[in-house]
Amino acid sequence: MDVIYLKKLDPEKANTLEKSIYNRCSTRDFSEKPVKLDTLSKILWSGQGMIEESGSQRRTTPSAGAIYPLELFIISKNIPGLENATYHYLPEEHALEPKEEGSFIESLAAACLHQRFIERSAFIIVIAGDFEKTKQKYGARGERYVFMEAGHASQNMSLVAANLLLGAVVIGAFSDSEIAKILNLGDWFPIAVMPFGYTQGK
Ligand SMILES: Cc1cc2nc3c(=O)[nH]c(=O)nc-3n(C[C@H](O)[C@H](O)[C@H](O)COP(=O)(O)O)c2cc1C
Repeated sequence: MDVIYLKKLDPEKANTLEKSIYNRCSTRDFSEKPVKLDTLSKILWSGQGMIEESGSQRRTTPSAGAIYPLELFIISKNIPGLENATYHYLPEEHALEPKEEGSFIESLAAACLHQRFIERSAFIIVIAGDFEKTKQKYGARGERYVFMEAGHASQNMSLVAANLLLGAVVIGAFSDSEIAKILNLGDWFPIAVMPFGYTQGK
């Protein structure tokens, strides 16, 4: 059988979702431009937000067994009207629960093996997971489900960021214990660190 060549995307004719996928790339050259709270709100909603329709509830990302083992934590730095602090995203209320006041961006960058570009981001979202929650139903296999779900959440947030002309990058190189300490994570295990911000020249 012959190879079947498929039609390539023409970025000029792409729809909104295709454009976001096309434009998404890892950004590390963050500018000091502030980011609106509404922008953070949209990104968090895309990562773990709730959708309520016809009496049923679901989230913006799939979850094995609808168990939802992921939690999103925020470190704010350059969001006018939002105090610099650590926060926990509450999907049911679509709200931020303040955890600890202060500037944590530098210690967070240090915990990411001193990837200093993180310090220039406007805010950071840490995806954390409770592996036991999913393993109770699926056994050892549950662990991979939690990682898969973190991938769904991070990609949703990356694409919404791209759509809003914001840069982002997924960080996997970090000290688990240092991130857990900064955010007081308790039983939640840090899976991904995502700094967001406008890029130089945007
Ligand atoms: C699981 C994972 C971990 C990553 N960790 C880091 C990291 O610690 N630091 C970093 O600068 N980029 C990190 N990246 C981003 C990759 O370097 C980037 O996705 C890759 O170079 C491809 O470029 P693109 O995202 O622009 O397409 C990570 C990406 C993934 C998916």
